[in-house]
Amino acid sequence: MIATGTSQAMTARDGRRWTLRPGRPTDGRGLAHLFAKVRAEGRWLITTPGAVSEPSEAFWISEMIRAGEHLVLVAEADGEAIGNVLVTIERGVATEHIGILSITIADGWRDVGIGSEMVAAAQRWAIERGLRKVSLGVFPDNERAMAVYAKRGFVREGLRRQQYRTAQGFRDEILMAWFPEEPEPGAPDR
Ligand SMILES: CC(C)(COP(=O)(O)OP(=O)(O)OC[C@H]1O[C@@H](n2cnc3c(N)ncnc32)[C@H](O)[C@@H]1OP(=O)(O)O)[C@@H](O)C(=O)NCCC(=O)NCCS
Repeated sequence: MIATGTSQAMTARDGRRWTLRPGRPTDGRGLAHLFAKVRAEGRWLITTPGAVSEPSEAFWISEMIRAGEHLVLVAEADGEAIGNVLVTIERGVATEHIGILSITIADGWRDVGIGSEMVAAAQRWAIERGLRKVSLGVFPDNERAMAVYAKRGFVREGLRRQQYRTAQGFRDEILMAWFPEEPEPGAPDR
């Protein structure tokens, strides 16, 4: 079982060591830099490169972590943030049972099991937090991300066509969700 409140030493599938730990307010800069690098790949994330300045995003992330309302987990290796999973709680009485998950692993650290571990940790937190639903959106060509979500028990909920205008043109978004109280095959141990 993966705890979400403490640091945990982890070993990637290729033998490299990394640490899974809660985000700290001082992670703002490191996480903003990670997001900027992954955005610059231009394929995976909704926000376009340069749409948010790194310093303002760093400030915003630090403030979010300080507020403590949402889940921010960091994957760290050699003192650098190499991954992040975020679960933000929806606002409003009608939707505060829902968390929105987003995840980013640095290029060079993908396909060695880190993303799957981080989604599992987010699911543990969602159960502890009493959420009824964890939702996410993913571009239809992001087969690796969808494979990870499906492996962790997320199911497809729908398709929003031409939902985002990106440098590659208009792109559809697949909606997926996981329901902690309705475990699917492959859902995490509890
Ligand atoms: C998507 C992402 C979070 C996954 O994390 P990861 O650490 O790379 O994933 P893992 O190593 O835990 O697992 C990858 C799985 O996908 C599978 N996979 C890889 N490429 C695949 C493909 N093209 N089609 C299907 N499955 C694929 C791997 O075999 C592996 O499955 P397994 O564990 O059963 O062997 C990470 O790659 C990432 O951050 N990518 C860039 C940003 C991004 O896409 N974020 C998500 C936006 S919705």
